[in-house]
Amino acid sequence: MATLDRDVVIIGAGPTGLTAALELRKAGKSVAVLEARDRVGGRTWTGEVGGATLEIGGQWISPDQTALYSLLEELGIETYERHKAGASVFVAPDGARTEFTGEDFPVDAATVAEMRRLTAELDVLAAEVDPDRPWEHPRAAELDRVSFHHWLRGLSGDEAACDNIGMFIAGGMLTKPAHTFSALQAVLMAASAGAFSHLVDDEFILDRRVVGTMQGVSLAMAERLGDAVHLNNPVLRLEWDADGVTAHGADTTVRARRAILAVPPNLYSRISYEPCLPRRQQVAHQHQSMGLVIKVHAVYPTPFWRDKGLSGTCFGPGALVQEVYDNTFHGDSRGTLVGFVSDVKADELFALDAGERRARVLASIAGFLGDEALNPDVYYESDFGSEEWTRGAYATSYDLGGLLRFGPGQTDPVGAVHFASSDLAGAGYQHVDGAVRMGRRAAARIAAELDGSAYDESYDGAAPAFGLKPAGA
Ligand code: FDA
Repeated sequence: MATLDRDVVIIGAGPTGLTAALELRKAGKSVAVLEARDRVGGRTWTGEVGGATLEIGGQWISPDQTALYSLLEELGIETYERHKAGASVFVAPDGARTEFTGEDFPVDAATVAEMRRLTAELDVLAAEVDPDRPWEHPRAAELDRVSFHHWLRGLSGDEAACDNIGMFIAGGMLTKPAHTFSALQAVLMAASAGAFSHLVDDEFILDRRVVGTMQGVSLAMAERLGDAVHLNNPVLRLEWDADGVTAHGADTTVRARRAILAVPPNLYSRISYEPCLPRRQQVAHQHQSMGLVIKVHAVYPTPFWRDKGLSGTCFGPGALVQEVYDNTFHGDSRGTLVGFVSDVKADELFALDAGERRARVLASIAGFLGDEALNPDVYYESDFGSEEWTRGAYATSYDLGGLLRFGPGQTDPVGAVHFASSDLAGAGYQHVDGAVRMGRRAAARIAAELDGSAYDESYDGAAPAFGLKPAGA
C-alpha cells in the first residue's frame, strides 16, 4: 500500500476529475487521481468491437459547448462534422413512415402548430432560467411541483404534440419517463443547452464529433498527468474534516488538504465517510438518480441509407428505438448507425435474451431505413446500467421537487470535500462540456482556498482557470 501526501486528491478519472487535476497542476498544486476502473474517461469510452471502433459512451459536441472546445484546443484535438446530408425519417405511433426535411415532424398541421407553440413556451422559460440557479426563477416552486408530462398537458390538449415535445427531454435527454421528473428539471435541461430549440435540433445538439473519440480527451489529459493517475483504486473509505482528508483506494492511500468527489451523485453513498456526511447531504444524495438508456451500434459494409438519399436521422416517438443517427466513424468506409432505447423501453428490452434483443432492435431500425439494416457486420449494446461505477445513463437528475429543495446546496463543500461532475453543471448539464466546467470551477475554488485568495463566484469554467506556466517558472 502506497501512502501519498498531496494538496488535492481527486476521486474519479472521468472528464470532470481529470480537468480538475490538470487545472490544479497548472495552479502549482500537487494532485493524485484515484480511479475505480482500469481505464480513464468514465462515461466516455471507446470500444473496439469486431474490428469497428465504437463510441460506447458520450461522443457529440454542440456549438454552445465552449468549455469543451477550449479544452480540445488546449490539448490539440480536432473535431469533425457528423454526417447530416439527406432526408430524415419519422415513424408515427401508428407505424406510418414518412421521409422529411426541415425542422418540423411530418405530422398534421394542428400538431405542428402546437409543437411550435410548446417549443416557444419552453424557449421563453429556458431564456429566463439561469442554469446555475434554476431554483431562483420566480416560478421555480410551481414548476418543480408538477411532472413534465402533466405540465405539458396543462398547456396543450394535443396528445401527439405533448408526446413529441416530451420525447426530446424525457427519452432523449434525462432518459426517464416524463412523469418522473419536474417541469423545472426539464427547463434546466433546456437552459443548460441555451434553448429548448437546441435540443429539438439534432443538427445543433449532435453537431460534431471528436477526432480520436471522446474518451481520447480523457486519455490526453491522463497522459499529461502521468503517474498522478492511479487506476484500479476505488475509494470506498474517506476520512475527512475541515483541514483535510485521507482517501483510501485499493493500493494507494492519499492524505490531502482537499478532495474533489468527481463521481456521479448516485455513487456518493458507495463511499463510507468518517465521520458520516452531514444530515443535509445524506438526505439530499438520495434524490438524484440515473436515467437508463441503451445506446445500440450497428456497423454495415457501407452506409447504405445514404444511397437512398437518407441522412440516417430517424425519429419514432412510439418506436422501440426512438432515435437513430448516422454514426460512421471518421475516415471509415463502412457505415455505422447508432440508436437509443430509453427508460421503460430499455426495461422491456433488457427483459429479453441477447438474441431477441438484437432482433427487436434491428427490426425497429429497419422500420426506419429498410431491411438492409437487419444484418449488420457488428452489433453492440452499450449497457452502462450494468457498470458498477456508473449504474445508468446518461446522467442523474432529481426526483419531483428535488431540484428546488436540494439543488441550491449541491456543490457546497463539506469540510475539505468538494463535489463536481457533469450532473451538477448548469451550462453543459449532463454533457462533457458541463464536466469540464465543473472540473475547472472546483479547481479554481480549491486553489483560491489553499492560496488564501478570493474565489470569483461568477467564474463559469468556459475558459481554463489557469494558464500554463512558462518553462522554468
Ligand atoms: P464520469 O461518470 O464520466 O466519471 C466519473 C469517474 O469516477 C468514472 O471513471 C468512475 O469509474 C469513477 N468512480 C466512480 N466512483 C468511484 C470511486 N468510489 N472511487 C474512484 N473512482 C470512482 N455527453 C456529451 O457531451 N455528448 C454525448 O454525446 C453524450 N452521450 C452519452 C452517451 C452515453 C451512453 C453516456 C453514458 C453518456 C453520454 N454523455 C454524453 C454524458 C457524458 O459522458 C458525461 O456527462 C460525462 O462523462 C461526465 O463526466 P464526469 O467526469 O462528471 O463523470
